[in-house]
Amino acid sequence: MKVLVADNLSSLGIDILKQESGIDVDVNVGLPKEELIKIISSYEGLIVRSATKVTPEVIEAATNLKVIGRAGIGVDNIDVATAGKKGIIVMNTPEGNVITTAEHTMALMLSMSRNIPQARSMLKDQKIWAPKKFMGKELHCKTLGIVGLGRIGTIVAERAKGFHMKILVHDPFISQEHAEKIGVEVVDLPDLLKQSDYLSLHTPSLDGKPLLSTKEFSMAKPGIRIVNCARGNLIDDDALIEAIKSKQVAQAALDVYSKEPLSPDSPLLTLDEIICTPHLGASTEEAQEKVAIAVADQIIDFLKHGNVRNAVNMPSIDADTLSKIQPYLKLGEDLGIFIAQLLDEPLTGVEVQYNGEVAEQRMDPITISVLKGLLTRNIEGINMVNAPFIAKDRGIEVKESKSTEVHEYTSTITVTAKTSEGKRSVTGSVFGKGDSRIVQFNEFHFEAVLSKHMLVLTNMDVPGVIGKLGSVLGANNINIAGFHLGRIKEGDKAVAVVNIDSQPNSETIRKLREVEGILNVSTVVL
Ligand code: NAD
Ligand code: MLT
Repeated sequence: MKVLVADNLSSLGIDILKQESGIDVDVNVGLPKEELIKIISSYEGLIVRSATKVTPEVIEAATNLKVIGRAGIGVDNIDVATAGKKGIIVMNTPEGNVITTAEHTMALMLSMSRNIPQARSMLKDQKIWAPKKFMGKELHCKTLGIVGLGRIGTIVAERAKGFHMKILVHDPFISQEHAEKIGVEVVDLPDLLKQSDYLSLHTPSLDGKPLLSTKEFSMAKPGIRIVNCARGNLIDDDALIEAIKSKQVAQAALDVYSKEPLSPDSPLLTLDEIICTPHLGASTEEAQEKVAIAVADQIIDFLKHGNVRNAVNMPSIDADTLSKIQPYLKLGEDLGIFIAQLLDEPLTGVEVQYNGEVAEQRMDPITISVLKGLLTRNIEGINMVNAPFIAKDRGIEVKESKSTEVHEYTSTITVTAKTSEGKRSVTGSVFGKGDSRIVQFNEFHFEAVLSKHMLVLTNMDVPGVIGKLGSVLGANNINIAGFHLGRIKEGDKAVAVVNIDSQPNSETIRKLREVEGILNVSTVVL
């Protein structure tokens, strides 16, 4: 398998890839887009930082690509949606540079408050000794507003406490428990703006929409100081420049920009109140080594062993959770494959219902397994990454429901597949350490082993049908491995799932359909 390293990566990561048997590495940094498009089809893996833009055209040309690894956090240089539709996993390395970036945030906060870059420039470039010109501000006892209490925001909060700052946080997605653990107060954005002396941004890019524009600056505490080490498009540059000129905002310290590299003509560089670094947040030797090692390990683990870590376009499952839900991932996929082969019309919707202990686990990956199973016969290359995208594209409505009540089985998963003609449902359970069984099909209850080859019959519950079925299969050299019958009342319709050792041909199926009492025969292959 071939991996292309397209951006600067610490040699520690490249060495790990080179030492791995079965993986060939090419390091080709700074390729023009057209060149990348020309060569990308030779690679199964691609590693980038932020310089290489992995556009839809690059992904379309990447016919063999299975994984894109981002040595860093932000994946805004990668078209994650197009990669997802093509079944390509996008993974980042979310831990490696968080301390470094939090430290850069503190460095900018202090540099801005004490005018360090301006003073240095005056001393060195203009040869002027002017201590009175640069009156600074203390951080001590000031209020720091943090937008986004994720990995970096949390470390900034901890570091800022060392400076005796009061910390307020705005993050609609964190629990009160997490905020209490960190010892911060959670407020809404208007309150954060009104109360903060310093404001530091630590969210991802919010679909390109600025978080801070004219309205937010106008409601902020006059003289507020802003730090942005997250993403440039979180701030409306024109609004910031206006707010600084009107003194509503005292100063800003920026590491990231809506368009990078920042043009030397940018108005942001014309104001003394704004200090700038060229996207240095993650640029320490320690962080670059950590992200390079992490991305190399993750790519090898995926290409060689199929293990997915830190994927941004499929649910990440930690090892402990995976060990608990693994049998249900398999059951969900098998139930999806099973029911899909019994539909006469295109699928329009699916409902996955979790009952019992399984409802206490992570269900989202299991639902994706069900979708993968449902779509697998009709769509080549379906996988856990592209299944939800493809279902959405085809207008298949997906619903999940759960109940932790335990009935006959400790855990069951019911997959109800809907078409324009109606719906069919199958319920499965896991016996012992991973033995998947069907326990209900539509309204019929039985316990049927899920095997590679099966027949699903609807028949009249009258004497002789099973014998004749056995004769037809025997005459056509098909061995029966198991037979499971479900009926509601004697003499009425019944459903049978027959485990067979090989696939019957169409002539055998035709003969089975001619057997008196057999109403319908379908084959299922897992
Ligand atoms: P994270 O995912 O751990 O945390 C992001 C936090 O933002 C989450 O807690 C989330 O709930 C919160 N959030 C999301 N939408 C929000 C909203 N509308 N309002 C308030 N909060 C919201 O991310 P992280 O690892 O801490 O990284 C934060 C940012 O820093 C990312 O944009 C990342 O790309 C950037 N980054 C920049 C550099 C750099 O070199 N300057 C280095 C590393 C990371
Ligand atoms: C990130 O998202 O990890 C940072 O922007 C740093 C980088 O691009 O390397």
